[in-house]
Amino acid sequence: IKRIGVMTSGGDSPGMNAAIRAVARACAYYRVECFGFMRGFQGMIEGDYIELNARSVRNIINLGGTVLKSARSKEFLTEEGREKAAAHLKKANIDAMILIGGDGTFRGGKILSEEHNIPVIGVPGTIDNDIFGTHYTIGYDTALNTVIDAVDKIRDTASSHNRLFFVEVMGRDAGFIALNSGIGAGAEEILIPEEDLGLDRLLNSLERSRRSGKTSSIVIVSEGDKIGKNVFELAAYVKDNLPYYDAKVTVLGHIQRGGSPTCFDRVLASRLCVKAVELALDGQQDIMVGMMNNEIKAIELVNALKSKPTINKELLRISDILSV
Ligand code: F6P
Repeated sequence: IKRIGVMTSGGDSPGMNAAIRAVARACAYYRVECFGFMRGFQGMIEGDYIELNARSVRNIINLGGTVLKSARSKEFLTEEGREKAAAHLKKANIDAMILIGGDGTFRGGKILSEEHNIPVIGVPGTIDNDIFGTHYTIGYDTALNTVIDAVDKIRDTASSHNRLFFVEVMGRDAGFIALNSGIGAGAEEILIPEEDLGLDRLLNSLERSRRSGKTSSIVIVSEGDKIGKNVFELAAYVKDNLPYYDAKVTVLGHIQRGGSPTCFDRVLASRLCVKAVELALDGQQDIMVGMMNNEIKAIELVNALKSKPTINKELLRISDILSV
């Protein structure tokens, strides 16, 4: 292996720059060349790449976003698109590609490897934490802290005005962000896709809180929850049924994807990417590196794509007890 490529793809996440830096520096350490592809698979298709060396990744460990930029390439979903991408990789003499992203990125990498025999190594980078084979994905911890910070502020005004707030958080089909930030922010109720507690339970819980003397409350709603109403409809429904509540909605949206990565995400990105380069140099391919119980381990990419991680139901119980 003489030349390693790296790219970031799909939704960006804080810590991707720390990951790019770690790939470039590990390549420099092991004396192999490193090339960064711009805008994920789209840059591969267009042959848009730059050489990375130890110095060109200086001063980025602390930055949110990704200096290689990111995209969800539609063209890569076509056979012709993938042929173009593979041709550019071969022309650039790339011996292995390190793909930083989520399951869409890994699915793309798997097809690229199957159709064009390009060795790929996946590094989980998404705020959603929804990747099997790792307890943490790069960006998740920072996103949690962003949510906590925002909800703390909402709590101030909720309390001043005796209001109920529904706060929608990201996570796509997974409730990791909602569940953990909900407990960390002291939410009254947490609605996640993995566990539909139903509208009745929500009303009962809010009614109980009112009776027990609570004057303001926060409900964290995961964007993928299955309660059957969007967050605005949910607030309206609660107002209709419990008119004494002055219910407001805040959708946190993309602020969850930005910001300087936490120390946890920087260390995670650094550890995962040094390992990814070492495994590539060892000739391994079609794997994903992950952190399980604080150890960096690799699993087959197909296995990472086969399952989804499960939420810790104990956290729901804790939330229930603490919202008494
Ligand atoms: O996968 C990360 C994520 O932020 C999800 O939480 C969210 O559903 C989605 O991406 C939003 O995608 P986009 O940035 O394309 O709107």
